[in-house]
Amino acid sequence: MRRNLVVGNWKMHGDIKSNQILLESIIEGLRDFKNADYVVCVPNPYLFQARSLLTNTNIAWGGQNVNQHEQGAFTGAVAPHMLTDLGCTYVLLGHSERRNLFYETNLTAAARFDGAIKGGLTPILCVGETLAEHEAGLTEVIVASQMDAVMATLGEQEFAKAMQLNMVFAYEPVWAIGTGKTASPEQAQLVHQFIRNRIARRNADAAAKVRIIYGGSVKAKNAAELFAMPDVDGGLIGGASLRADEFVAICQVANNVTSSACLTE
Ligand code: 13P
Repeated sequence: MRRNLVVGNWKMHGDIKSNQILLESIIEGLRDFKNADYVVCVPNPYLFQARSLLTNTNIAWGGQNVNQHEQGAFTGAVAPHMLTDLGCTYVLLGHSERRNLFYETNLTAAARFDGAIKGGLTPILCVGETLAEHEAGLTEVIVASQMDAVMATLGEQEFAKAMQLNMVFAYEPVWAIGTGKTASPEQAQLVHQFIRNRIARRNADAAAKVRIIYGGSVKAKNAAELFAMPDVDGGLIGGASLRADEFVAICQVANNVTSSACLTE
């Protein structure tokens, strides 16, 4: 059975002082939650701060991207072992902002995914269509191409390693990110089911286990209906992860949802 997962993506927000206030409130707010997993993906300069505040709590931390190389002349890049050195367990990959603003592609996402699992990080692969693609009825085509670009590069051994690391998929329709528009629970469910079925074509066991989280204007007020969907295993939260009360409330929903798909192990 799958545990819900809530991941806060802070994007490029925060400073030492505000991070401390936010993290201390989240630690306090999540203290008694035991039925789901909680993660914050903070900007790289603050990973050290995340490690010092979050060690021995029920909140994990991770990076927002990673380079596939182990080391070398790659100015501005961060290697997988640098994230694990700072205690990261998770890393976001292929976020639409990386794709749209920093020219990352399916190919770079695949290379980074491979580097992440070799380095022992749990990859959270973000997929999702733009508004134009959505309106043209291309959602499944786009999501399939984003998934296949990564899955096709994984041999059996790498796929097994990715599963061992509990790889995560995040469906984030680009038109719902930071816009206040959310996919309806039914819309999200259809795409999540599509993602799970596509993984099942490769490995049915893996498909049953893999967590597929939804991102795009998730707030405390809409989290319950989204997380109640059978193939929605939690959320990837942007703006609302910067407000302790909102983030804690969303985590509480994930902690409380005990639909048959989300029972704790
Ligand atoms: P918002 O929750 O601000 O829409 O952002 C979603 C997102 O991009 C998380 O990765």
